[in-house]
Amino acid sequence: MPASRGTKVVTKNFGNEAAKAIAGYESLGGYASLKKAFSMKPQEITDEVKKSNLRGRGGAGFPAGMKWGFLPKDAKTVYLVCNADESEPGTCKDRELIYWDPHQLIEGMIASSYALGCHHAYIYIRGEMMREVLVLKQAVDEAYSRGYLGKNLFGTGFDLDLTVHRGAGAYICGEETSLLNSLEGKRGWPRLKPPFPAVKGLFGEPTIVNNVETLSNVPHIIQNGGQWFADLGVGKSGGTRILCVSGHVNRPGVFELPMGITTRELIFDVCEGVPAGRKVKAVIPGGSSMPPLNESELDVPIEFDALMTDPRIKEVEVSPGVKFDMGGGRTLRTMAGSGGVVVMDDSTDIVAACARIMRFYAHESCGQCTPCREGSGWLARVCTRLAEGNGKPGDVDLLASIAHGIAGNTICALGDAAAWPMLGFLTKFRSDFEAKLALSPAAKAATEAKRRIA
Ligand SMILES: Cc1cc2nc3c(=O)[nH]c(=O)nc-3n(C[C@H](O)[C@H](O)[C@H](O)COP(=O)(O)O)c2cc1C
Ligand code: SF4
Repeated sequence: MPASRGTKVVTKNFGNEAAKAIAGYESLGGYASLKKAFSMKPQEITDEVKKSNLRGRGGAGFPAGMKWGFLPKDAKTVYLVCNADESEPGTCKDRELIYWDPHQLIEGMIASSYALGCHHAYIYIRGEMMREVLVLKQAVDEAYSRGYLGKNLFGTGFDLDLTVHRGAGAYICGEETSLLNSLEGKRGWPRLKPPFPAVKGLFGEPTIVNNVETLSNVPHIIQNGGQWFADLGVGKSGGTRILCVSGHVNRPGVFELPMGITTRELIFDVCEGVPAGRKVKAVIPGGSSMPPLNESELDVPIEFDALMTDPRIKEVEVSPGVKFDMGGGRTLRTMAGSGGVVVMDDSTDIVAACARIMRFYAHESCGQCTPCREGSGWLARVCTRLAEGNGKPGDVDLLASIAHGIAGNTICALGDAAAWPMLGFLTKFRSDFEAKLALSPAAKAATEAKRRIA
C-alpha cells in the first residue's frame, strides 16, 4: 500500500526520549528484526533489499541492493561504512535520525553487516555533531552489553564490531572515497573511480558505503518484507522520504513523507505556505548542489526519477554554445539529492543566493583537480561581483562557460555540485543575472560607449 502523509517508518520514534535507551527501544519492538535476519541466509537479505527498491538517501539515489551486489563473491574481508558526515547545505535529517533513534541505525547496520559478510563496521560522523556523537557512542556501548555487537551474535558464530569515528568537519569527507581516506588516517582527498569502493574500498578491501537514512530503513525491510517497502513508494523508489525544509515557509522542519509528494503539496500543505502570502520563486529540491526548480515546476513529485526527467521540460541553451546537460536524458536537470529542500520567495535576490552557494563550494573544494579548484573559485568571484553590482560585460556567459568547463571533468562530484546549480540558476533565472549586470558601472559604461559609437 502506498505511504500516506501519516505513514512513519524511520521517524516513528522522533520525540520519544525513551527510544534512545536500549530498554526503551526494545520495548517498542526494536532489535526484533535481527532474530529474523539471523534466521535468513545473507543472500536472502540482499534479495529483500533489492526487492524493496531502497535507494540511497545520501545524494545519488543509487539502488542499495544493487550496490551490495557489486561486492566480489570471493571477498574475504568486507567493510560496511555508514556515512553520517551530513554537510550538504539544506540537509539535516541524519543528525535527527541519530539523535532520536540511534539503535535503529545500529540494528540496520548489524543486519546489513550480516548480509554483506562484514565483521567490522564503521560510522563516520561529522565532527561538529557532538550531541549526536555522544548519543551514538552510548547506544553502541549498550548494544555491546546486550550482546547485539561483539562475538557470536545470536549463537550463530557471527562476530561484529562497530566503531564510531568522528570526522574533522570537512564537507568533502562526505564524498565516499574521501571519507575512506579520512577513515584510514589520510588526507581527505577523493580517489579516482573506478575502482569503486565495493571492489576496493577501506584499507583496500571491498567496502559498502551507505547513508544513515538508507541503513535505518533496513530493519523495517527485514521485518515487513521487501515488497511491503517497495509498495510504500512509487515506481522504482521504495519507502518514504525524509525531507528537510528550510527557507521561506511558515513551518520549516524535518518531515517523513510519501515518496510521490509534490513540491507544491510540501510547501503549501505540509509547511503551511509562504510567509506574508508571497509567491514562490525558486526551490532547491535536494540540497544546495542540486539545480533549482522554478514556479512552473512545483507539481513535479520530489522523487528520484521524476525530478531528473520531466517530459514537459525541453533542453535549454544556457548561453551561446553552452547546453545544460547532466547526462542520461535528464530533461528536468535536477535531482532529489539528500532531501534538503530550500524555498525562496519572490523577494529573494537570486544572484546573491547563487553567489553564496558558489562561495561554499569554492571554500570546500579540496583543490586536487584543476577544473574544480580554479573553476569553483572563479564561479564564486564572478557571481559575487555580479551580485554586488560590480559585474563586467560578458560575466553572465562567462559563468555559464566556467560551469560547463567543470561539469563532468573532475575527480569527484563536488565539481558538479558547484557547476550544476550555477547552470540551473542561469537557465531558469537568467533575467535576474542580466538585471544585476545592467546595474554595474562597467556595464553602464559599455552601453554608453556602444551608444556613442552608434
Ligand atoms: C562532495 C560530496 C559530499 C557528499 N556528502 C555526503 C554526506 O554528507 N552524506 C552522505 O550520505 N553522502 C554524501 N555524499 C554521497 C556519498 O559519496 C555516497 O554516494 C553515499 O554516502 C552513498 O550512500 P547511499 O548509497 O546510501 O546514498 C557526498 C558526495 C559528494 C560528491
Ligand atoms: S572535484 Fe573538487 S573536491 Fe573533488 S577531487 Fe577535484 S578538486 Fe577535490
